[in-house]
Amino acid sequence: MIVADAHQYLLDHYNEFDFIWSSPPCPTHSRSNFWASKTVDSRKKVYPDLTLYQEIIFLQNWYSGKWVVENVIPYYEPLIPAQKRGRHLYWTNFKLPSDLGDRRLAIISGKKEFKGLCDFHEYDFSKYCGSQNKTKIARNLVDYEAGKTIFETALGVIRKKDVRQTELF
Ligand SMILES: C[S@@+](CC[C@H](N)C(=O)[O-])C[C@H]1O[C@@H](n2cnc3c(N)ncnc32)[C@H](O)[C@@H]1O
Repeated sequence: MIVADAHQYLLDHYNEFDFIWSSPPCPTHSRSNFWASKTVDSRKKVYPDLTLYQEIIFLQNWYSGKWVVENVIPYYEPLIPAQKRGRHLYWTNFKLPSDLGDRRLAIISGKKEFKGLCDFHEYDFSKYCGSQNKTKIARNLVDYEAGKTIFETALGVIRKKDVRQTELF
């Protein structure tokens, strides 16, 4: 595990990896935050964090491996077309399966949310001893089945390309 500024790390180290997944922060893009802000006048207005698009444009143009940038469906028309699966958008340089698995997270708010997230991710987040908000960590977590499906799809594309290259010689 590398503890660093992920945005800068991508720029400095992208070439050392065969596969890159980035999930930049979503709060400034999310529909629920946007609608909540609209209805509460005192809520601080924020610009959408465009580092999301910086990473997509960077990977599209500089990186030759397979990559995924994942985020929520935004409250505005995405600036760069993406593949929509469930409640998320995925920008990739390979085609995703139409179905990333049949696990669906039920929307639960209030006191039951934390337990619902622990059940969904099959992990007890109360074991976490750090200073961050446990519910927020659990909310941020990518569904393991969707992640595995996407990673295996990328591996399949890479393997096929390798086989084709071997056949040429
Ligand atoms: C959308 S969440 C992604 C969570 C991750 N995909 C997972 O499954 O746990 C974004 C995460 O990036 C972290 N983050 C935000 N800016 C960062 C930065 N510059 N460098 C490293 N991490 C950052 C946030 O604290 C948050 O945990």
